[in-house]
Amino acid sequence: MEPKDTESASSIFNSVSIASIFLLLLLCLLLNLSYRAEAQDRPTYVFHFCNDSRQTVPPDQVYGLFLCRGDQSQASCRDCVGYATQEILRRCPTEKDSILWYDQCMLTYSNQSILSYQRDRPAIAPAKATTISDPARFNNLLDETLSSLIPKAASAGNRFAVEKVNFTVSQPLYTLAQCTPDLTTTDCTMCLQMTVQGLQRGRQGARFMNPSCYVRYETNLFYNETAVAPLSPPAPPPAPTPTPPSLVPRPKGHKISTAVIIAIVAPIGVAIVVFLILCCLLRRSAAKRPEAAQDASGTPSEILPLGTG
Ligand SMILES: *[C@@H]1O[C@H](CO)[C@@H](O)[C@H](O)[C@H]1NC(C)=O
Ligand SMILES: *[C@@H]1O[C@H](CO)[C@@H](O)[C@H](O)[C@H]1NC(C)=O
Ligand SMILES: *[C@@H]1O[C@H](CO)[C@@H](O)[C@H](O)[C@H]1NC(C)=O
Ligand SMILES: *[C@@H]1O[C@H](CO)[C@@H](O)[C@H](O)[C@H]1NC(C)=O
Repeated sequence: MEPKDTESASSIFNSVSIASIFLLLLLCLLLNLSYRAEAQDRPTYVFHFCNDSRQTVPPDQVYGLFLCRGDQSQASCRDCVGYATQEILRRCPTEKDSILWYDQCMLTYSNQSILSYQRDRPAIAPAKATTISDPARFNNLLDETLSSLIPKAASAGNRFAVEKVNFTVSQPLYTLAQCTPDLTTTDCTMCLQMTVQGLQRGRQGARFMNPSCYVRYETNLFYNETAVAPLSPPAPPPAPTPTPPSLVPRPKGHKISTAVIIAIVAPIGVAIVVFLILCCLLRRSAAKRPEAAQDASGTPSEILPLGTG
């Protein structure tokens, strides 16, 4: 029998060292995720985990993944993931469970296994303030479009799909749905259906996101139509009308030659366009509650306004 004071001293020592083991594992994980984003030809999704080979009890492990929006280029994906790995360390360094959402990518880690596991929490549903005129017809069209979009996304290999429809002749409606590709078609469908229930309707744009899937619509073009063109069914050739003013591509002057791995410890030198940043810390029991979609608003720690472009 050890004296009590030694016991508590040793438990303090243990918790300190376990905390630093977790931090080391987290660094291992983030380095690996950034490295994979850098090295892959077309990274959109990577799952990785790091564990403590000393077999501590409970096993100290950290799991993580990133998901880039399906239309993103390799450069954009790795910039976003590189940026997110720095930010998640800066914003949530002591958490066992964190997630960051950006416009172009999502990064999350957890000390619980997250592979092939549909997570409903945390969930956020930001929406543009501007409403649509004729909301009833708009919402009908939105629901119709989403119900054909969901099976398309869920059955696609990368679990990603977009759909463009005409609300009026001059007003298109753009929709997007995506799951992490580790989900089965069934899980992806369920996830997206729940997501759609929480989506705010009748706005110029809205999204609903959780760690496993997300849905978004906008009246502005928010994804890269060229990049997703091969995904869409062959469209009938457009009428020979004068071409509308084309979108001016955002100047993307930066060329990172430095490895993202270096960028983790270096200050941010890359100006990536970030429209939306959220950091949510999962409650311990949150990931276990399947009825999360009822709590559609979620409890985001902060919401920045939706991007204008
Ligand atoms: C750690 O991961 C390796 C594979 O990466 C595995 O072989 C080993 O069993 C794992 N250890 C624990 C404690 O889970
Ligand atoms: C994850 O971390 C939380 C908070 O420290 C802890 O309560 C939980 O038991 C951990 N889960 C695993 C699987 O290690
Ligand atoms: C949407 O409207 C445009 C321009 O009026 C037209 O070219 C296109 O075929 C329409 N698309 C659909 C799916 O009706
Ligand atoms: C859109 O995607 C195409 C093809 O992947 C790419 O060449 C182009 O640079 C992208 N445009 C923007 C604005 O990212």
